[in-house]
Amino acid sequence: MSDIFSFRGAPGTGWSQPSPILEESEVRKSIPNGASRKALPGWPRASEPEIVRHYTWLSNRNFGIDTGFYPLGSCTMKHNPRLNEKIVQLPGIDRIHPLQPESHLQGLLSIFFEMQEMLAECSGMDSVTLQPVAGAQGEFTAIRCIQEYHRSNGEGHRDKVIVPDSAHGTNPASASMCGYEIVEIPSAEGGRLDLGALSAAVGDDTAAMMITNPSTLGLFEVEITEAARIVHEAGGQMYYDGANFNAIIGKTDPGRMGFDAVHYNLHKTFSQPHGGGGPGSGPIGVREHLSRFLPTPVAARKSKGAEDPEGVGDGFWYFWEDVGESSIGKVQQWHGNAGAVVRAWAFYRRYGRELEMMSEHAVLNSNYLRHIIMNPDKETAEGIHCMPAEGADTDLVMHEFTLSMAPLKELNGVTGKDVAKRLLDYGYMSPTVYFPQIVPECLMIEPTETESKEVLDQFASDLHSVLSEDPETVTSAPHTTPVKRVDEVWAARNLVLRHPGDSFPGR
Ligand SMILES: Cc1ncc(COP(=O)(O)O)c(C=O)c1O
Repeated sequence: MSDIFSFRGAPGTGWSQPSPILEESEVRKSIPNGASRKALPGWPRASEPEIVRHYTWLSNRNFGIDTGFYPLGSCTMKHNPRLNEKIVQLPGIDRIHPLQPESHLQGLLSIFFEMQEMLAECSGMDSVTLQPVAGAQGEFTAIRCIQEYHRSNGEGHRDKVIVPDSAHGTNPASASMCGYEIVEIPSAEGGRLDLGALSAAVGDDTAAMMITNPSTLGLFEVEITEAARIVHEAGGQMYYDGANFNAIIGKTDPGRMGFDAVHYNLHKTFSQPHGGGGPGSGPIGVREHLSRFLPTPVAARKSKGAEDPEGVGDGFWYFWEDVGESSIGKVQQWHGNAGAVVRAWAFYRRYGRELEMMSEHAVLNSNYLRHIIMNPDKETAEGIHCMPAEGADTDLVMHEFTLSMAPLKELNGVTGKDVAKRLLDYGYMSPTVYFPQIVPECLMIEPTETESKEVLDQFASDLHSVLSEDPETVTSAPHTTPVKRVDEVWAARNLVLRHPGDSFPGR
């Protein structure tokens, strides 16, 4: 199949039906004088079947959660129920604009309000904003609220944020975007938070500590309330990175653990297609003392009381409420990614109060998969090694776990990256690799709650096959994908952000 752009400049080579909406002359009339092009743009020209073939061909070159098992640790790539898509495409949601009056937006506003309430309840927070559109933006937003809180208390001198060495890179990045200096503390042997290192790091310059629980090693931080006490006693705030919220919903919550602020990755915990920068949603929740700093506005409601002229709805009037002059302002145009919020709402609504079943299954699947990988019938697990080692104080992990390929590398030179690439040939997305950095040759695996035992058994068996393959086959993988090994650094160093079509004459 040739690339669609080879059709450029070959107009009229195929027949498409006339536009069902407006004649071309009608369209022209509706464009203000001086705003229409002098010449045709140099866009590719192709007939409808050519376009359909092109995009179908492209989609076949891609890998997605609908193509195969996607065990991407920490990034939680879940099955996306199709019902979510139906709901988000309802005209009352899909066909509205944020500038319409509130009377037109009652349905969407009530969804936003319910989402805020649900997130606050399951995280033990008091107020929530849905404005940030990524976990990382949520981190930035919450750390800004914490910064304003310290300033309002005359404690603006607090200029350090503590992160454990197992933290996701966005944690130090977000804090440093707020102007904070980062203090990294090493994990204890076994991978958990080291309270001694934390005590040594806190001081009257501590603004906050950022940590996820369970950690990126899939380990529950059992001493988290003690950590919160240490940070609070030093005058700092506790920030919960909610990327791993999938493991604990309904069982415990960050509020009980002593956190003051949290972000939720709606696009991980509550399904959603995501990746490549969007579409995401990274709301934050905060305790009462931080609420007045939230971005403005938030969804609110008041009782319609006896004067309910239409007598419809649930008896409440929903509206956008200004947070007030302490607000850090807006962090996103409009009100965030409404479509992502609605999909997440649809997802959680099907569980309702039984949301904890989701976490139970996610943790069960993770432990089952880890167990069968580490205890194969044959002797193929000699190249892998769980971190921390199986049989240590953590026979159980949470919703994800890490494997170190370091022993394999020592055995025959095959690295974690090689194994990840070879898994593509078996029809799987690679697990997350080389994160957390404290695990050498790391593969981080998160099966999520919806995968069946058969899928997990097959994956474990295929991973064992990879480990016993001839090293040359693995180090030269992938062999079956449209794109082989790419230079991952080149793309980051040489950004090409515009399609060449943009620079055609006539623009
Ligand atoms: C532990 C952790 N924290 C934060 C983030 C950032 O979330 P986002 O990708 O939505 O910006 C991620 C993303 O993978 C993560 O795994």
